Amino acid sequence: MDLHEALYTTRAMRRLKPDPIPRDAQERILDAAIRAPTIGEEWRFVLVDDADVRARLAPLYVQAWEELFAGFGITVEQVMQADGATGRAARSGDHLARHFGEAPLILIGFGRNRDGSGVLPALWSAMLAARAEGIGSTLTGVLQTYRSAEVFDVLGVPTDEGWYMHGAVPMGYPLGRWGVAPRRPVHEVARRNSWDGDLGFSVPDPLWGQSGLTSQGS
Ligand SMILES: Cc1cc2nc3c(=O)[nH]c(=O)nc-3n(C[C@H](O)[C@H](O)[C@H](O)COP(=O)(O)O)c2cc1C
Repeated sequence: MDLHEALYTTRAMRRLKPDPIPRDAQERILDAAIRAPTIGEEWRFVLVDDADVRARLAPLYVQAWEELFAGFGITVEQVMQADGATGRAARSGDHLARHFGEAPLILIGFGRNRDGSGVLPALWSAMLAARAEGIGSTLTGVLQTYRSAEVFDVLGVPTDEGWYMHGAVPMGYPLGRWGVAPRRPVHEVARRNSWDGDLGFSVPDPLWGQSGLTSQGS
């Protein structure tokens, strides 16, 4: 797959088919992932495909998801009713929350560094490599934020060795179609030479795939 197609279209795919991900695809995904930038810290990737383990993680994800909103003094249901991108993101996120354990494969990254900088590049590489296989994924953080101890318990992660969980990435063949991830354009978020310096160009529309893929992801 063309690198730019992968970069532009590897977006959150939360509606997934239950079909298993072949072992050889898993090999290619992880073997590509570990080529990511690293400061050499020890890392560990746990692939979860066992139905019982997924069934134990699923309620933890829902609890974490609901706790995320409770922290803002609102309910998921309230946000799901919002118009536009906010409501769409909440509905899509909620779908993943209610079906987390049905993703055929969940990749969970662990590192020794509290901020996750050692592992997150590898998780993103895994997502790009999965994209090349036609496999969708979503980077999620709520589990480690709100239910880390419980996940450690489910997976048998040692609690006395300084491990931190840095993301759970449910993966599967997508029900939706691939599309370009919408973002605020470059000229709104980038400057040159100083915080407020003139960037010198603007990019109103994505430079890749303008006449190509049109879907909204899922
Ligand atoms: C560090 C991090 C943690 C995230 N945690 C979650 C999460 O727990 N659940 C979720 O549904 N989306 C989460 N997201 C957002 C999605 O991964 C995705 O980036 C976002 O919905 C944008 O989707 P798009 O790429 O399709 O535009 C997280 C993103 C980042 C960068």
